[in-house]
Amino acid sequence: MTRIFITRPIPDRGIRLLTDTFGPDAVIVAPNDLAITRDELLEGIRGADALLPILTDTVDATVMDAAGPQLKVIANYAVGFNNIDVAAATARGILVTNTPGVLTETTADLAWSLLMAAARRIGESERYLRAGLWKSWGPQLFLGVDVHGQTMGIYGMGRIGLAIAHRARGFGMRILYNDVNRLAPSSEVELGVVYADKPDFLAESDFISIHVPLLPETRHAFGEPEFRAMKKSAVLVNTSRGPVVDEAALARALKSGQIFAAGLDVYEDEPAVHPDLLECQNAVLVPHIGSATHETRSKMAHMAAQNIVARLKGQKPPNPVNPQVL
Ligand code: DGY
Repeated sequence: MTRIFITRPIPDRGIRLLTDTFGPDAVIVAPNDLAITRDELLEGIRGADALLPILTDTVDATVMDAAGPQLKVIANYAVGFNNIDVAAATARGILVTNTPGVLTETTADLAWSLLMAAARRIGESERYLRAGLWKSWGPQLFLGVDVHGQTMGIYGMGRIGLAIAHRARGFGMRILYNDVNRLAPSSEVELGVVYADKPDFLAESDFISIHVPLLPETRHAFGEPEFRAMKKSAVLVNTSRGPVVDEAALARALKSGQIFAAGLDVYEDEPAVHPDLLECQNAVLVPHIGSATHETRSKMAHMAAQNIVARLKGQKPPNPVNPQVL
């Protein structure tokens, strides 16, 4: 009998597709709405044909081998797949899939919310009001920085970077981008974006939003030298992966006024947040909710399930990460 292990309850739409296709007994969902432990993962995956993990589950060779040789697909419930050892999966003929596209606009919305909140000191001023500290309107009360008409810097011009560019155009911003891959000149013109090398990108951007995957080359792409090169009025937003930013260096830059503010959805050691960052009033901090809307999480569940169905039925899944195993 088919066995599909889902490491945490996900929206019904995905589970329904799997139970309708393979029967209710084929689908085992970890019972608690908590990240499962390593031991629970090793136990739950035993005998599984398919694994549907979330981004906090580390799926390495040991986990794959604990499943047994029938494991055919790991359908990550995320677009990022740095939690999975893809090389180990490929070596074992296991397909890895992800959920691209469906969360692009939702994650861009969250990045834009963080950008606005950090620029206009929303978190800090809301805490002040709720604490009963507001005594009167003030000409100098909670002065922030303008967003409209400023220079937007997009670090990583993939799907989400492009969605940020779209929002920035609506705010009448000049748009710079930096990426290992440069767009075709005609696309740059069409999108109204200008490529800048990293020094110019850092020096000229009023806002920087990070949209690169976590790779050895992007780890700590933003650290002390980068913060020193940025404007004192700059705002940094990160909705990609925490380790792209050196959190200790960011906290120092925020405390010393090296940059103006930051908006973060992701952290180096989630769910832990660097204690120095927690002390920074000019950091807007949210708990990795980039794709967290009812609509998008439901689409992600359906997409991950579609990948499992296709793989287990011998068809080509829509979102392969390592298509060479097909
Ligand atoms: C992803 O899919 O990689 C996101 O981080 C989830 O919000």
